[in-house]
Amino acid sequence: MRKNIVAGNWKMNTTVPEGIALAKAVAAKAAEVPAEVGLVVAPPFTHLCAVAEALKGSPVGLSAQNCADKTKGAYTGEVSVDMLVSTGCQYTILGHSERRQYYGETDEKLVEKTKLALAAGLKVILCVGENLEEREAGKHFDVVKAQTENVLYNFTAEDMANVIVAYEPVWAIGTGKTATAEQAEEIHACIRKVLAAKFGQTVADDTTILYGGSCKPSNAKELFAQPDIDGGLIGGAALKADDFIQIALSF
Ligand code: PGA
Repeated sequence: MRKNIVAGNWKMNTTVPEGIALAKAVAAKAAEVPAEVGLVVAPPFTHLCAVAEALKGSPVGLSAQNCADKTKGAYTGEVSVDMLVSTGCQYTILGHSERRQYYGETDEKLVEKTKLALAAGLKVILCVGENLEEREAGKHFDVVKAQTENVLYNFTAEDMANVIVAYEPVWAIGTGKTATAEQAEEIHACIRKVLAAKFGQTVADDTTILYGGSCKPSNAKELFAQPDIDGGLIGGAALKADDFIQIALSF
């Protein structure tokens, strides 16, 4: 059966020393969280080696926030999956709405990145989610379905063992405006149906689907109580170890 996961997406926050301190604070409190709940932190690329060291001996997993769509070579400023693996990273977030919106990340690119990440042995946290205009136009199911299919339908049932999906409505990210538990649940259930249609019900049932978007200690319990919400991808609230751990205690 699928695992509950709480992952912290630090985005472009913290210096290296601040990141080490945050990782150590999370690692120190990780024992409070039941072993069935996976904890993951996703610091910036520059922090990965140092954070890997800070997390040593703790159950906290390490994720990148992105990876290159090429394996190596003349791609200035890019970071390859092999580089990530060599830092001690086990996961990468892909397709975050901020990457889609500000850096032109397309579903086609995400297929390439997902292929490379899985081949390198990384687990992928693939983000999907509609923006406000799409929700107001009633297109949220269609948008999320298309994003999920466009990327994941290029993979096999076996690949799905290493894929986590994160539903992040763009209008809820960093806005303080959380999707209601019902709004989130109906999309999570839809994503699971989309996965079942291609990979079968067992794979769909075994896939962890996270909610992201202003998830915090005060609303995590209600969200995580939904049958298809298996945890959270946490932005702002992941920058405080106490809040992050509090969220992980909300199952
Ligand atoms: P937020 O970000 O929790 O700050 O809304 C979530 C995310 O973008 O992953």
